[in-house]
Amino acid sequence: MAYGSLYGMAPQDIVLCFLLAAFLYSSFGQAMPKSEVQPEFLALLENHTVIQGRDVSFTCVVNHLQSYKVAWMKSDSKAILAIHTHMVAQNPRLSVTHNGHNTWKLHVTNVQPNDSGTYMCQVNTDPMRSQTGHMKVVIPPDIVDLDGSADLTAEENSDLRLRCRATGTPQPVITWKREDGRNITLRTEHSVQRVKSYEGEELRLTGILRQEMGSYLCIASNGVPPTVSKRYYVNVRFKPLIKVPNQLVAAPVDSDVVLHCYVESWPKALNTWYRNNGFKLLSDEKHDLTETPLSDYAYQLNLTIRRLNRDDFGSYTCAAENLLGKAEGTIRLQELHLIRTTSEPARHHTEFININRYNPTKPKGKLYFEWGDGSLSKNRGKMGHTSSVLRRNSSNALMDDTVKKSKASSYPAPAPAPAHFAPTQQNVRNSVTSLRRHSRLNRVGLMLAFLVIVIYSS
Ligand SMILES: *[C@@H]1O[C@H](CO)[C@@H](O)[C@H](O)[C@H]1NC(C)=O
Ligand SMILES: *[C@@H]1O[C@H](CO)[C@@H](O)[C@H](O)[C@H]1NC(C)=O
Ligand SMILES: *[C@@H]1O[C@H](CO)[C@@H](O)[C@H](O)[C@H]1NC(C)=O
Ligand SMILES: *[C@@H]1O[C@H](CO)[C@@H](O)[C@H](O)[C@H]1NC(C)=O
Ligand SMILES: *[C@@H]1O[C@H](CO)[C@@H](O)[C@H](O)[C@H]1NC(C)=O
Repeated sequence: MAYGSLYGMAPQDIVLCFLLAAFLYSSFGQAMPKSEVQPEFLALLENHTVIQGRDVSFTCVVNHLQSYKVAWMKSDSKAILAIHTHMVAQNPRLSVTHNGHNTWKLHVTNVQPNDSGTYMCQVNTDPMRSQTGHMKVVIPPDIVDLDGSADLTAEENSDLRLRCRATGTPQPVITWKREDGRNITLRTEHSVQRVKSYEGEELRLTGILRQEMGSYLCIASNGVPPTVSKRYYVNVRFKPLIKVPNQLVAAPVDSDVVLHCYVESWPKALNTWYRNNGFKLLSDEKHDLTETPLSDYAYQLNLTIRRLNRDDFGSYTCAAENLLGKAEGTIRLQELHLIRTTSEPARHHTEFININRYNPTKPKGKLYFEWGDGSLSKNRGKMGHTSSVLRRNSSNALMDDTVKKSKASSYPAPAPAPAHFAPTQQNVRNSVTSLRRHSRLNRVGLMLAFLVIVIYSS
């Protein structure tokens, strides 16, 4: 009160007086007067990691700015970019805004690599106050075309080199993978290594094998999306190979039969079927030729012969030929004699033979198998397919079963193997084991049974 009464002023007037004094003082270009309130930053300047081409802004929040000014600078170039809301830098991609209160923003549109660096928000106090924030400009990976062609071909056992390079910031890492997820085989003089992926600009496929044929991906990544990849097609050339799972097939007259050949070849072979008389087979009402791709280089050839008659028995050859050579496989088709009887056969020197898995729940039918030489063997219906055996397609059912077993042992066929092999021993062994279970089997029966089984399992 004494203060007020001394000058005869109301407290409001005193405040006004002070403000006026302050205004006058600063107008004469001097530092702020006695006022202890200094401008202060409310938040740190952000750090930005920006993808090239995007927009970004730095935000500077200053309280108690009073008549000081906020300026933006690029620390590395010492260039003043803007003061308050006035642009200084001649860069159309830069702009500043002020929200009318305490917030200033520096906007950078379509960010370029040379925008990286340290940015400063400064207030012209004495000493000046400032804050810095970093901008890091990153660039997604891009694969550089090196060789042009992504379609590569090598002879089997030769070497192939795949190269891939990428640009981007940070420098991308190159990873190789096979598109189908299989492992990459890396060979050196002393070792073979199989890896899910390989890192490096160059992938060396040494002593390449057919199994390594396929699509390889070069994947470039540097943590900046999107990751990019390039596909290389690796082809391995080799002479055709043929495998015949069953070289001996027996089927009854009037049934349909399917003969199988397995072919490996690249480039793809011309596949044909011949009779032993050299007659080339084509698809017609009697024959059906199919070719099913199993992989990039393997095919399943099926020849279906419908309603077998006596002329159809004999040898059949499947042949595969490409630029590098030719392969053949031969199948002998034999007549299988089936006789159905209605009465219980006289007990001969043979006992029943358990050809397939024992299945006591099946009804007991009676079946005789007669071979070309007239020998007889009988089966008391212990076969899994008993009831269907006499149907026209019955022999197929039996053949299919054996084919499947052989198939399991020969496919997939990773390494080249001899094109010809005897009917699988596995089947023979299984059959022998089941024969042993029958103690009452005499020697003649055993031999006869063995003959039947060997022919059946082929
Ligand atoms: C920005 O980065 C610098 C150094 O890299 C660090 O000291 C600072 O705290 C960061 N600022 C923010 C807001 O994280
Ligand atoms: C930055 O890079 C852009 C585009 O590459 C260019 O137009 C601009 O002149 C550069 N600015 C500076 C300061 O070098
Ligand atoms: C594939 O490679 C991975 C490691 O990269 C390994 O663990 C795996 O056993 C390999 N698979 C084959 C089939 O070699
Ligand atoms: C060829 O035979 C195999 C083995 O029996 C069979 O899996 C496949 O489906 C057949 N292919 C065609 C086209 O008939
Ligand atoms: C033979 O099999 C084919 C197809 O599997 C079928 O359409 C046909 O009816 C069968 N014939 C006989 C006599 O069972």
